[in-house]
Amino acid sequence: MIKILPRQDIKFVLGFKGEEVLENSSGMMNVVEFKNVGLRYGNGPEVLEDITFSLAPGSFYFLTGESGAGKSSLINLMSLSLCPTKGNLKVFGTDVISKNRKKFPEIRRNIGVVFQEFRLLDHLSARENVALPLRVLGIKEVEIKRHVRELLNWVGLSDHIDAKPPTLAGGQKQRVAIARALINRPKLLLADEPTGNVDDKMAMRQLRLFVELNKIGTTVVIATHNEKLIERLGYPRLHLADRHLHLLPAARPIMTGREPI
Ligand SMILES: Nc1ncnc2c1ncn2[C@@H]1O[C@H](COP(=O)(O)OP(=O)(O)O)[C@@H](O)[C@H]1O
Ligand SMILES: [Mg+2]
Repeated sequence: MIKILPRQDIKFVLGFKGEEVLENSSGMMNVVEFKNVGLRYGNGPEVLEDITFSLAPGSFYFLTGESGAGKSSLINLMSLSLCPTKGNLKVFGTDVISKNRKKFPEIRRNIGVVFQEFRLLDHLSARENVALPLRVLGIKEVEIKRHVRELLNWVGLSDHIDAKPPTLAGGQKQRVAIARALINRPKLLLADEPTGNVDDKMAMRQLRLFVELNKIGTTVVIATHNEKLIERLGYPRLHLADRHLHLLPAARPIMTGREPI
């Protein structure tokens, strides 16, 4: 049984304050800005070429393209795990160049990433995995406990707080990974095929978490192959093909996120 709480307000769960939401209103600096960006690994060929686009605060995009098209590479650029080998990339206004490396940890605090392969620590419980980003920030233990419990509850894992990842099913691990990505209240959420291992119904439920988060101002990019979800939610698409990025408009009107699934 999945117990995601559809009506509970994520604003409350994450403890957002009004001002933080307003901060993301239009007219603000772009969250991400690519200008003629190219990327190659070592001496290999360019895997991304001449990429130019920007993400406005509060926007929501799907990221599509065949396997090997460069979706994970693009996410790694936006999460400051890689620097471009050509062109200019700004994330929250800072140039992503190795000279600025010292500023990266501070910027990363505003970015939540759900990795394709989860990257959970197997020897730690769900609770401890989700708590990690807050521990690093030195947040008080009682606050950590409360936030983690509320968020795990919100993603429907209240019965698995003490479970270790190897004992959890694929969809449950994904939700732990999602909770860990959200615990820092990120302004930018990047998810790399978060719906890869679950059925359509579960995938839709997971996406609903992202829709809710987007509604309170978070910029969201989700890499996915799931055409049904893309059509159903109807957000615009960043599509990678032949090393280039193509911006495709929304397939259909955007769902409100309140419809029954
Ligand atoms: N660490 C790496 N070293 C060398 N080549 C890589 C590395 N990561 C990805 N690539 C190559 O970059 C291209 C894009 O890969 P990736 O970004 O993983 O695509 P996708 O996520 O769309 O499947 C592929 O040709 C892949 O082989
Ligand atoms: Mg990938």
